[in-house]
Amino acid sequence: MKFDTNSETVVAALSQDLTCKLFPPELQLIPNMNDIYELELAFYEKLILSNVELIRNSAYFAQVGDKFTRHFLMCTGESLKLPDHSSSRLKSFFEKNIFRTGYATHGLFPYRGKFHPQMIKGLMNVMGIKPGDTILDPMMGSGTVLVEASLMGIRSVGIDASPFCCFMTKTKLDALNMSLIRARSALENYEDVFTYFQKRVGKPFQATKSPRIKKSNNIVNVMEEVAEYATSKDRQTLMDKDQDTLNTYNFLLLSYLDSAGYAERSARKTHLDQFRSILERYLFVAEKIQKVMAGLELEPATAEVFEGDARKLSLDDNSIDGIIFSPPYSFAIDYLANDSFHLNFMGIDCDALHEKMIGLRGRNLSEKYRYYREDMDKVISECARVLRPGCFCTIVIGTNNNQLGKVFGISSDEVKGLHEIMIEMAAGYRLKPVKVMSRPITGISNTMRREFILILQKRFY
Ligand SMILES: C[S@@+](CC[C@H](N)C(=O)[O-])C[C@H]1O[C@@H](n2cnc3c(N)ncnc32)[C@H](O)[C@@H]1O
Repeated sequence: MKFDTNSETVVAALSQDLTCKLFPPELQLIPNMNDIYELELAFYEKLILSNVELIRNSAYFAQVGDKFTRHFLMCTGESLKLPDHSSSRLKSFFEKNIFRTGYATHGLFPYRGKFHPQMIKGLMNVMGIKPGDTILDPMMGSGTVLVEASLMGIRSVGIDASPFCCFMTKTKLDALNMSLIRARSALENYEDVFTYFQKRVGKPFQATKSPRIKKSNNIVNVMEEVAEYATSKDRQTLMDKDQDTLNTYNFLLLSYLDSAGYAERSARKTHLDQFRSILERYLFVAEKIQKVMAGLELEPATAEVFEGDARKLSLDDNSIDGIIFSPPYSFAIDYLANDSFHLNFMGIDCDALHEKMIGLRGRNLSEKYRYYREDMDKVISECARVLRPGCFCTIVIGTNNNQLGKVFGISSDEVKGLHEIMIEMAAGYRLKPVKVMSRPITGISNTMRREFILILQKRFY
């Protein structure tokens, strides 16, 4: 009989298991891992963390021996509740991405350009950040790094030029352990709450059904108590307010602002109905993570949020144990235009803010690009200054080559990638790349296809 060596090789190859080659049998990966960068981060987590640390904080393992990891427990249980009318495409996206984005309070407000929280968890592990250390995000956006750090026992400092980002981040952090009793009763009176905000904000984008207004009730009184918070020029004077009242108000306000965005994008539901569905989802999400945290006896770590400028950080030299951030990808997204409704509602002077926003300064695209490079050089020098020697700064950045190619009249292949520019800038400030990874960008409306994860180490001299 003729011996078929080729098929024997195939059978021998297929009997091998890639994950068994990479990981010992007691480690079981999170389901739905599709990307190479995820497998790489899992591999480094296994090299860097002990088994006890893997159970506590790993991002990519579901089980260590017979113990489920905290990440697995936070993500499982009931899955994220989406409004009933959500498309099947959206529902299947969340089901598939439950371990990446659909847990804790990360889903409160769909901020454009936000991190995958699971990746941030993995990166903090790979950078050797431990509970009790302090991580900085100098351009925190919706606060993904801070929420994730809080759940891992890591202290965090977040800065953003936009007061709306500070408000959003604080609300997501507070939702981890605030009392939800009053927010739950607000859901029962959602028409009154909606009317209250609508009066304050004016009718945003769409015609809405006129809701019935009840004479008076408690939740509206709660909101009256703290109403000035949203528009006050002097937020400091409100520090004395009862924390529970403020938290409730902010939670309701974020739901309202979120629903205004949905109402603008979709005509399928009235704004009032959007508000009810979104508030219901916010409560579901917050109650779920609070229940998991109580079960794990997990208290969120301290997180500090500051409105500020990443080009000039009010932090001491060598005071931070790790930095993770994602700057604007030059002028790819206009963060002010995106958030103008929310910023106007908060009484923010958008013209003044415009000058602080990296990627927006400049009269035309080539001037914007020149300012962008100058500004990013300052941000990187500040990151290097505040980081402790030997520690790591991770920058996540995509490259808008198509746009930039058009600006310079060259093909997109000839454009120098923003990630290469960041690495060159970093070299001037003692930040040396120790690892460059890349990950695909999969969103349909995104013209960028890939972003880079640059892990830089601050040299001792
Ligand atoms: C790509 S987003 C960050 C998103 C964030 N990683 C998240 O998970 O939500 C970039 C952020 O940089 C902020 N930003 C722009 N210029 C800034 C400056 N001069 N100082 C601090 N933050 C700035 C923007 O407001 C925006 O929120």
